[in-house]
Amino acid sequence: MNKPSLLIARQIYPEVLAKLEHHFQVDYNESDEVYSKEILIQKLSGKQAAMTTGTERIDEDVLLACPQLKICANIAVGYNNFDVASMTARKVTATNTPDVLTETTADFGFALMMATARRIAESEHFLRQGLWKKWSLDMFSGTDVSGSTLGILGMGRIGQAIAKRGAHGFNMRVIYHNRSQLSDTLEQACKAQYVSKEELLKTCDHLVLVLPYSPQAHHTIGESELKMMKPSATLTNIARGGIVDDAALVRALRAGQIAAAGLDVFENEPQLNPELLTVPNVVLTPHIASASRKTRLAMAELAAENLISFFAKGQALTPVNHW
Ligand code: GLV
Repeated sequence: MNKPSLLIARQIYPEVLAKLEHHFQVDYNESDEVYSKEILIQKLSGKQAAMTTGTERIDEDVLLACPQLKICANIAVGYNNFDVASMTARKVTATNTPDVLTETTADFGFALMMATARRIAESEHFLRQGLWKKWSLDMFSGTDVSGSTLGILGMGRIGQAIAKRGAHGFNMRVIYHNRSQLSDTLEQACKAQYVSKEELLKTCDHLVLVLPYSPQAHHTIGESELKMMKPSATLTNIARGGIVDDAALVRALRAGQIAAAGLDVFENEPQLNPELLTVPNVVLTPHIASASRKTRLAMAELAAENLISFFAKGQALTPVNHW
């Protein structure tokens, strides 16, 4: 029997590649270069399956040019690189990689929030530049994490895992805002209290963004939201670029409207707003929140299992669309 054809659009782990080669006729992007849309269409043309990451956009143009495509397995929990409505209309299954990255991503979110609050990156730059001449009492004094109020916007699996770290590990008061309120049981497990978005912004000491990107979520945090926050507050974004208006954030950081920010995701990444590089009170990381070796391997494995299960059993494991 002919194996189904699969495009693996970015570099993956050798063990996952070997498994996929067993089940599929594989076209592998070993160079790991990010395909332009034109090349992506060319490579995907005639293929039944794709393994993608957030750098490959599967939109109406791609779907129109590749009508034989049946499934795209994203190696990411977020899938805003997919036009899900068009995929569903064309009966193309879309899958993501939930659960396997929850704890690793929550660890990173918490670490980035702490680095931001305690000015770890800013003080390290100072030291590396040879500027440290003497210890002084108020040098790089930041904001406390323990015992403060943690605000979480987007209370899915990762938001809940961050809430537990704050409530149980750091004695924080946890407040959150989400499209829908959690059940009593989940709220109790997270020791979290549901509040309006406005109350969240006005009350929290540390705001962490963990909501999925959608056009409706574009610039959820912009000038007016930043103005509502305390001047001592920090903002951490591990969600998606575009949820924060980065230009407004630069202005707010410069004006002291908030104390500091930690960003793992950016508008137009990897080309971030150059102004961000000139602001001292911001910690910047290159979209690595889920990047432990174990978790990234588990994500690639889950994406592979989605593809294998889809062709063997007619059903993917973690589809995000249904019809
Ligand atoms: C990473 O950003 C992911 O969505 O998994």
